[in-house]
Amino acid sequence: MKVQIGLIGLAVMGQNLVLNMNDHGFKVAVFNRTTSVVDEFLNTAAKGTNVVGAHSLEEFVESLQTPRIVMLMVKAGDVVDQYIDKLIPLLSKGDIIVDGGNSLYTDTNRRTASLSEVGLNFIGTGVSGGEEGARTGPSIMPGGNPAAWETVKPIFQAISAQVDGEPCCNWVGDKGAGHYVKMIHNGIEYGDMQLICEAYQLLSEGLGLNADELHAVFNEWNQGELSSYLIEITTGIFAHKDADGSPLVEKILDTAGQKGTGKWTAINALDLGMPLTLIGEAVFARCLSAQKEERVRASERLPKEYAVFSGDKAIMIQAIGDALYAAKLISYAQGFRLMREASKEYGFELNYGDIALMWRGGCIIRSQFLNSIKQAYNKTPDLENLLLDDFFVAAMKKANAGWRKTVMLGIELEIATPTFSSALAYFDGYRSAKLPANLLQAQRDYFGAHTYERIDQPRGKFFHTDWTGQGGIVSATTYTV
Ligand code: 6PG
Repeated sequence: MKVQIGLIGLAVMGQNLVLNMNDHGFKVAVFNRTTSVVDEFLNTAAKGTNVVGAHSLEEFVESLQTPRIVMLMVKAGDVVDQYIDKLIPLLSKGDIIVDGGNSLYTDTNRRTASLSEVGLNFIGTGVSGGEEGARTGPSIMPGGNPAAWETVKPIFQAISAQVDGEPCCNWVGDKGAGHYVKMIHNGIEYGDMQLICEAYQLLSEGLGLNADELHAVFNEWNQGELSSYLIEITTGIFAHKDADGSPLVEKILDTAGQKGTGKWTAINALDLGMPLTLIGEAVFARCLSAQKEERVRASERLPKEYAVFSGDKAIMIQAIGDALYAAKLISYAQGFRLMREASKEYGFELNYGDIALMWRGGCIIRSQFLNSIKQAYNKTPDLENLLLDDFFVAAMKKANAGWRKTVMLGIELEIATPTFSSALAYFDGYRSAKLPANLLQAQRDYFGAHTYERIDQPRGKFFHTDWTGQGGIVSATTYTV
């Protein structure tokens, strides 16, 4: 009897996805480059299941029913191409290769096109939720060749997380759309994590809260509008004690790692000319944290005043919660705004409401408030910016004062709040009918004859002034980056 799907790559995500598929009644074949891992898996975690193992790619492909579905859960990059090259001669027209790693969407664009030339259907899919999500129900974001969707749909939608009876998995779009949306998910993940870290530092260093008190604050936040997976696990982290009974979090070195998806998101925003300031700051905050030794030296050379907080703690905690929420809304507004631009630029035809639904469960950024995003797009499918939706307008109004107070607290206590404060700068800039870019244009024209438009003339008409009386009348060509 042939099996319905094959999976290559038995690291923890691969293994857990296989077990999840098996739980849902799908017969799965597995292969791993180090073949002993296949036997180990079959003799341990997969013991007693219907999973079958293969010791060569030929045997693996032979065990699959047609059209074959081969899912790769291997390291993003060259390894994916190497497997694709080995699979091409073994597969037949109409077979499907799925890449479930964190691949760069441009690689997925290329792979979808080149595989389609040889008659194979490629899907690049985001899979979010970590180890646990893969085992019990991740968020799955597939894109690529739409001809493959109907075949993989029953499997993917069955194994994904379900919220209110709806699967957190739907077709995202052509080419690299699935991996693009997963990249944005990860960028937002970076932002959410950094926001929580800034709240943590203000509460602990600024207000002097200990781990138990932090646990209590986060626990309360998790009951309300901030309710989310990342707040929930942070609550758990504050409660976790090391062997000596002290909070483990305080013993962890303050240098953050990263695998690059947040950086890709920020680079993409710069490429498309989109202000994705919060995620950009979150990436840079990780970079700054990694310069530990240099920071220690700087802390001695440039010591802080160490002002002490002297207000009402309960009110300040409430304000920090407001800041966390408002800045989070900004981050999602920026992320969805970037997707809107990318959808246009790359022809992805993204459905923003569906994306919010896919992120409602299973993934790392899952939260209650994604429902409000879904509702905003239900009302206005082509909404320009989430901040213009009624829900967001009201939420920003409510959190505004507390958010400002929080940023001021950081300034007073000399605690850096790059995401809280950059989000506020975006918010104030975004709702400014007038910005000081008139002066900037004057400067550009002054030193480089780059020209400017005038408020009393139609858009698209460019002027140059001889600012010093010594310049020429020739203007530089108008160009955009
Ligand atoms: C997910 C995560 C996951 C990511 C890790 C690590 O959605 O399950 O986004 O895909 O690999 O979170 O990312 P960094 O190492 O870049 O923090």
